[in-house]
Amino acid sequence: MQENQTKNNRAIGIFDSGFGGLTVMSAISKLLPKENLIYFGDSAHVPYGSKSKKVVTEFSTDISKFLVKKNVKMIVIACNTASAYSLKTLKKVIKVPIIGVIEAGSVVALQNTKNKKVGVIGTEGTVKSNAYAKEIKKHNKKINCFSKACPLFVPLVEEGWNSGKITEDIISVYLKELVDKKIDTIILGCTHYPLLKDTIKKVIGKNINIIDSATAVATAVKNLLEKNNLLKEKGKGRYEFYVSDDPEKFKKLGSKFFNNKINKVTKVEL
Ligand code: DGL
Repeated sequence: MQENQTKNNRAIGIFDSGFGGLTVMSAISKLLPKENLIYFGDSAHVPYGSKSKKVVTEFSTDISKFLVKKNVKMIVIACNTASAYSLKTLKKVIKVPIIGVIEAGSVVALQNTKNKKVGVIGTEGTVKSNAYAKEIKKHNKKINCFSKACPLFVPLVEEGWNSGKITEDIISVYLKELVDKKIDTIILGCTHYPLLKDTIKKVIGKNINIIDSATAVATAVKNLLEKNNLLKEKGKGRYEFYVSDDPEKFKKLGSKFFNNKINKVTKVEL
């Protein structure tokens, strides 16, 4: 029993290209407050969204190895681009359970759509990979997926422009073609986009379901830990943050994404 708890006290490793994955970490910390969490933000290499599959997979592999050295009990790829490009490879080379964000978001979209028209927005890499459409079709071939890369959304969020006229106009231009297709559900297929959720809702209206995969991923993490008998049972979770570039910037901006103050961030070289 004691031995089991020691094993279960190991942290959950979470990584992203930068800040965005903190929205996922925040959801996990709310659902599983006892769990210890270790976050890695690859701030030296952000953005992943415009990089090749090969390069994103190399970065993702190095980070996962770092997290395994930290003795994590599982890894969450809290980045859509890295999930789309690298999950398969990582599952082969990393010896702890590992999940991405795409399956969880797809499942929630499937549960929500009535007219079987689902929009997916994300980085160029995520959209190019077609990963959401593939995952959704695996469950239901009759669903029509319409994807759109929205490359300006990440810099808008990083600048803190989450609302206002300019942001609304940009959202409106990007999403018009999806709205015209009469989608009834849209997946926010990028970890930065939850911060734009209210503004997106204002632009596209209340009738389109907005799927923010962070909550869905947190539930998937809980299910995986339960299934493997790995849930931590006692005490409040402790959090560690690592980055590959300027820790000060991460501390300042990261707190906004995490919805909580981040006090200590350590820079590491992989
Ligand atoms: N975290 C990335 C994603 O979810 C967005 C930022 C980036 O391009 O690195 O796809």
